[in-house]
Amino acid sequence: MPRWVGRCPECGEFGTVVEERIAPPTVAVREVATQPLAVQDHEAADRIPTGIDEVDRVLGGGIVPAGVVLLAGEPGVGKSTLSLQIAMALGTSREVLLVCGEEAPQQVKARAMRLGPIPEGVRTLADPELPAVLGAIQIAEDASVVIVDSIQTIFDPEIPSAPGSVSQVRECGARLVRAARDNGVTVILVGHVTKEGVVAGPRVLEHLVDVVLNFEGDRSSGVRVLRALKNRFGSTQEAGFFHMASDGLLPIRDASAYLLADRCGGNPGSMLAACVEGRRPFVCEVQALIQAANSGPMARRTAVGVDASRLPLLVAVLERRGGVALSRNDVYVSAVGGIRTSEPACDLPIALAMVSSWRGKPLPDDAVAFGEIGLAGEIRQVVAGDRRLHEARSVGCKRAFVPHNFTSELEGVTLHRLRHIRDALALISKQW
Ligand code: TYD
Ligand code: MG
Repeated sequence: MPRWVGRCPECGEFGTVVEERIAPPTVAVREVATQPLAVQDHEAADRIPTGIDEVDRVLGGGIVPAGVVLLAGEPGVGKSTLSLQIAMALGTSREVLLVCGEEAPQQVKARAMRLGPIPEGVRTLADPELPAVLGAIQIAEDASVVIVDSIQTIFDPEIPSAPGSVSQVRECGARLVRAARDNGVTVILVGHVTKEGVVAGPRVLEHLVDVVLNFEGDRSSGVRVLRALKNRFGSTQEAGFFHMASDGLLPIRDASAYLLADRCGGNPGSMLAACVEGRRPFVCEVQALIQAANSGPMARRTAVGVDASRLPLLVAVLERRGGVALSRNDVYVSAVGGIRTSEPACDLPIALAMVSSWRGKPLPDDAVAFGEIGLAGEIRQVVAGDRRLHEARSVGCKRAFVPHNFTSELEGVTLHRLRHIRDALALISKQW
């Protein structure tokens, strides 16, 4: 006997129960013909460049006709702005339909006018019901692009649950993917995700779509990073950097120069870290501040823009393997400039910044570091060392603290190879 269920009896949460249609108990068997893979027709997928370089690079050259892209990110990060900019860039050469589920077309127009002249090819649909969206896809011109902002607002009136629920998102997503394939139309689905990875989020779409783009950034700073988490047509090794300005998202072509623009040298607790995001190298400043804990029995460990879970580990390694007694101190670490990086390669620069702050002695301003730190205090190799070093030289670094087994050399950069965290501590006492 079916009955209404509000709270899940297992986990005790509301809104987590998902409707499943029960499949018929027996499956009929049908005769089919299989094909050798080697004789399948194959065409290299054409690309439609969006004209926004930072987006095209992440996509692997552009969007693919009849492909489906999920653009995911937290509310307020700039998904609507980015998709509107894509629409306006593509709208000069083809038809682009904006399905406005979140904002009224008037609001979208006001926003678009701030971004530049609105091309003729951009159209809007204000009806978020699935049959309307499917109808619009059916009459869309060949090779046009449909942007749905957002998938959480689209709903199938046949499904009793609310827009944004798992059944709605999954069903509408699947129908839109099929419509894209059948009609040769590219679909971009905008999807909100929250930090907690909300249950009814677009995660349920990830396996359906061809490309999953993640857009992230700290709302208080202007930096936004676009990454491909999945890409059936290209690599997931690229990243696009943007700056959120008053007239939309602007590309950051030289991320290192952007991040280092406000650096003032000579400070204890500051170190440059050579990072890579995907295949893209950039140099950012990490800062540490160590002070005697006066905030009660628990010393503070605060990390901004770097991996917070590695911070206690680095403090413990410095104390046990390097003899730097930090456990009774408050430790604050921050990657400056609004960038987030959780690479283990930042271990060494973070540790150096901490020791520099602890001793109150600055390290040379033209020094950069990269390397992972193990629990035994050893400094370990990281990927893409050469690329990191080249990038560091391009922003004026003249010396680099690197893992001992990093074998390359680079003209103009003096390498200091470090085997153990103790070697790193010795750097602080050195006269530069
Ligand atoms: P939005 O694209 O609406 O985010 P999302 O769709 O991911 O929720 O924009 C997010 C914020 O960006 C918004 O609070 C206002 C700001 N913004 C700018 O700073 N400059 C601009 O040109 C635009 C359009 C928005
Ligand atoms: Mg939005």
